[in-house]
Amino acid sequence: MPERVHEITLTVNGTVRRVAVPGRRLLSDCLRHDLGLTGTHVGCEHGVCGCCTVLLDGEPVRSCLTFAVTADGHEITTVEGLADGERMSPVQRAFAECHGLQCGFCTPGFLCTVTALLRENPAPTDEEVLEGISGNLCRCTGYQNIIKAVHRAAELTAEES
Ligand code: FES
Ligand code: FES
Repeated sequence: MPERVHEITLTVNGTVRRVAVPGRRLLSDCLRHDLGLTGTHVGCEHGVCGCCTVLLDGEPVRSCLTFAVTADGHEITTVEGLADGERMSPVQRAFAECHGLQCGFCTPGFLCTVTALLRENPAPTDEEVLEGISGNLCRCTGYQNIIKAVHRAAELTAEES
């Protein structure tokens, strides 16, 4: 018997998108394959690495553990939606400035996680940064520059608000 297809509506990066998905379609696959938003990366597909993190109604979620149908009617922000037009967000600029990335595979997940972290806690301590990014793995940087980038992003956000 063919799998049932569900019509869902997602607001992705401020744009309403309607898409037909089988019930078991992962949000990560829906974003990447159905909507063409390949900025969301997929690493482990088991909820471990955090590469696939996106914001669902502003909260970070692992899109590889989320069925697309459960996001029906909700707002999603992916890495493509963090910038303000051509201007990168403070978190994006801070990662670039502090060399918080090397290969960049983990970066979309970090950028989404850190965006949510700083909204919640605009001036985190080192310990709070470590805890905040503990669900995101990076195989390249050794994390030191990522931690610097989070603090720099906090400064830039404060300067610009
Ligand atoms: S791909 Fe989703 S947590 Fe690793
Ligand atoms: S920059 Fe390569 S995995 Fe993080």
